[in-house]
Amino acid sequence: LRHVVVAVDGTSGSGKSSTSRGVASRLGLRYLDTGAMYRAVAWWMLSRGVDVHDPAAVAARAGEPVIVSGTDPLAPTITVDGVDVSVEIRSDAVNAAVSPVAAVPEVRTRMVQLQRAVIGEGGIVVEGRDIGSTVAPDAQVKLFVTADPAARAQRRAAEEGGSDVAATRESLLNRDRIDSGRAVSPLTMAEGAVHLDTTPYTLDEVIDRVVGLVEAVE
Ligand code: C5P
Repeated sequence: LRHVVVAVDGTSGSGKSSTSRGVASRLGLRYLDTGAMYRAVAWWMLSRGVDVHDPAAVAARAGEPVIVSGTDPLAPTITVDGVDVSVEIRSDAVNAAVSPVAAVPEVRTRMVQLQRAVIGEGGIVVEGRDIGSTVAPDAQVKLFVTADPAARAQRRAAEEGGSDVAATRESLLNRDRIDSGRAVSPLTMAEGAVHLDTTPYTLDEVIDRVVGLVEAVE
């Protein structure tokens, strides 16, 4: 599995992160959370006072933030200009800003380049929206992970320490809408991807299934 690339795409809050991290740690692979990279860019734009709903303003500064992702599945980290923003990127403000920022082509071009550099020779589980379609179209395993909106909102609100379930649901669905409708690399199921609806399964069941798929390739 030294060179395998596992592409995990899907909707917001579907269980992609927990699944990807679990699979990577069980198989001794690295892990890259590309959503965290877009979140870090959105956080940087907000912190610099850039209007995140103005694509030209975002594009003009897309080259500035220096994003570095750690790839340990048990302790993923993300820094912008050397500052660890792992906690800040999960705020409501970033939740609302990230999809419009991620829809800006100049932001995507730069992030995809960085992501490919991290993937390098492989041995990695990469999570996002466009990994199987755009970032790593040659990935040996491609997954498209979804779950019922109600299940997603419940899990995510619990993770966030008891946030309002209805508001969480709206936030997830709003991101899905923007991510699926954008012009560049929209969220879609990549050619050859396996669709996993995680609604009825426990995390361990989903991880077992994916580990089986990855082991079957090698
Ligand atoms: O995965 P997560 O929900 O943290 O991603 C946050 C946002 O980043 C997504 O809603 C999407 O707008 C953007 N994203 C993307 N392409 C990726 C990963 C994330 O556009 N590969």
